[in-house]
Amino acid sequence: MDGLEVSACERCPELVESRSQIVNGTGPEDADVLFVGEGPGAQEDSQGEPFVGRSGSVLDDQLRTVGLDRETVRITNCVRCRPPENRDPNKTELQNCRSYLEAEIELLDPDVIVTLGKVPTEHLLGRSAAVTKEAGTVEEVRIDGTPRRVLICVHPAATLYDRSQSSTFEETIQTAADLAGVSNEATDGSGGQSRLGEF
Ligand code: URA
Repeated sequence: MDGLEVSACERCPELVESRSQIVNGTGPEDADVLFVGEGPGAQEDSQGEPFVGRSGSVLDDQLRTVGLDRETVRITNCVRCRPPENRDPNKTELQNCRSYLEAEIELLDPDVIVTLGKVPTEHLLGRSAAVTKEAGTVEEVRIDGTPRRVLICVHPAATLYDRSQSSTFEETIQTAADLAGVSNEATDGSGGQSRLGEF
């Protein structure tokens, strides 16, 4: 690992086969908010950047709405290589990639880590989670010995197949902006807090 970039890794034989490249995190190394997804999909694998496909558009739109532009946050994944047929990364693969994620968290030292979906939520909290129910909840957890604030969020893709999850997603991203101290005067004129009441 060179800074936050993994340039060569062969820890997961199946993923080495299925990936076309390693997809590192993107965004400033001092970002206040770190979004953690599951792993690269087809678009991410071909472009070499996390959340650039349909899920990425959902995320980008909501980031913009709350005044948290994509360029100002860091976005990464639990595993950096695309699993075959978009299956979930298995426990061994998650563990193999964990040191890279921990190093990224340590270097960034974010105000809040937002877990996008079940896999990153359970991976970072170290317990099973009902993400739809728990979305919007903040939990403090030790990651590599340091207490970190984790905000549970549904995966942006969940809003594409279940519209009822859109408001949960939107509210949680607003909470992320609030926790990072970002206000969006353009949309609410009141520093961000009161928007929660609109949903
Ligand atoms: N879904 C994820 O979990 N990560 C990505 O990078 C893209 C889609």
